[in-house]
Amino acid sequence: MEQPRSKRILLGITGGIAAYKTAELARLLAKQGIEVQAAMTGAAVQFIAPLTMQALTGRPVLVNQRDAVDQPDTGGNGMAHIGASRAADAIVIAPATANFIAKLAHGLADDLLSALCLARDCPLLVAPAMNRQMWENPATQRNIAQLNADGAIVLGPCSGAQACGEEGMGRMLEAEELARNIVKFLASSPPATPLPHPRERELEGVRILVTAGPTYEAIDAVRGITNRSSGKMGYAVAQAALELGAEVTLVSGQTALSKPQGARVADVTSAAEMFGAVKQYLADTDIFIGVAAVADYRVAQPSEQKIKKGGGNLTLELLPNPDILAYVAGLPQPPFCVGFAAESENLREQAAAKRKAKKIPLLAANLAQQAIGADEGELILFDDTGEHLLPRADKHALARALLRHIVKLYRQGKPR
Ligand code: CTP
Repeated sequence: MEQPRSKRILLGITGGIAAYKTAELARLLAKQGIEVQAAMTGAAVQFIAPLTMQALTGRPVLVNQRDAVDQPDTGGNGMAHIGASRAADAIVIAPATANFIAKLAHGLADDLLSALCLARDCPLLVAPAMNRQMWENPATQRNIAQLNADGAIVLGPCSGAQACGEEGMGRMLEAEELARNIVKFLASSPPATPLPHPRERELEGVRILVTAGPTYEAIDAVRGITNRSSGKMGYAVAQAALELGAEVTLVSGQTALSKPQGARVADVTSAAEMFGAVKQYLADTDIFIGVAAVADYRVAQPSEQKIKKGGGNLTLELLPNPDILAYVAGLPQPPFCVGFAAESENLREQAAAKRKAKKIPLLAANLAQQAIGADEGELILFDDTGEHLLPRADKHALARALLRHIVKLYRQGKPR
């Protein structure tokens, strides 16, 4: 039987200090049996020698157009930027500087690596690395949003100590984490049909109801049962839906976040209040996305006064709360329902079982330990076609990628 061919990555390196980590990344990918073809910009060779990358990948490194013309994998067409990108299962840019991200976002092709990216017909994964202020600059954020909208997968960055001596967001993910994400990406089932190119305001006229944040179940006048959900993911989902032109209603538990502009917001405290608000807006809903961490139980008889301590034990009776998502999904004509699951173990099994139990077409799952309160995370989407990894990225990028997936499934079920 013919062996499946090994996966091929075109590993693009641009001019940032994090380039030294890319040597380790190449080694880890090669160790996994992935063929790595390195391509470097003129600035990158100031940071790491092409010879280092050649030794680790076993292939000459592409730095300028001439290097690639005679590559065996180019199909002999002498067109380096076409051939070398055609041979790859994915292009990974690590590190991706702010400047290179700007070039990608605008479709520039003024050196070999940017030309390879523009001429590709494979997925593009980008690992940004830059100073915190460069990352936070609205221009960079616009460019990242554009890359997301164009279907690129943004890996990281993460926060921490920076080469410039500052602390903050913009560090490239460590080589192990990048390698893990890339390997998972290559192994995850490709979507049955390619994701549609998101037209601007793809969700114009579509009404989306999002629940977000924690619920708080009172024990007495000053105490209650809650959880550590920050609401960041739910708010990012609402924001991503607004960017695509949807009419968004956000039913939010107590959070410290500022409200997304343009959304109708209902502030709630308990699961019962959240349920009431959801029922109120449900008639006007095409897509329901349950991101809230809803308490499964409430206190049977919360005390109106502060409970004074006595000498002995105190027992609280808890009653089950309604499952809001299951209720919505169980309606005779439900909106398109999306659930979230944060699991602390056996993520895949638990998530797949939860999707079935709640009878929902799409469930986004993550590891609770990594997700709660963090600015970044990774998601695995479960739908009828299988699993789809959304590799680690900040929650806004993740939310945009999730929305793209939702748009695709929603449109499949409801032709325009
Ligand atoms: N959810 C809901 N109402 C509830 C509990 C959960 O709408 N009372 C929604 C959440 O918003 C999320 C999904 O259901 O989209 C999964 O929630 P989770 O609490 O993880 O699932 P449970 O079914 O409660 O399972 P368990 O707590 O046992 O993991």
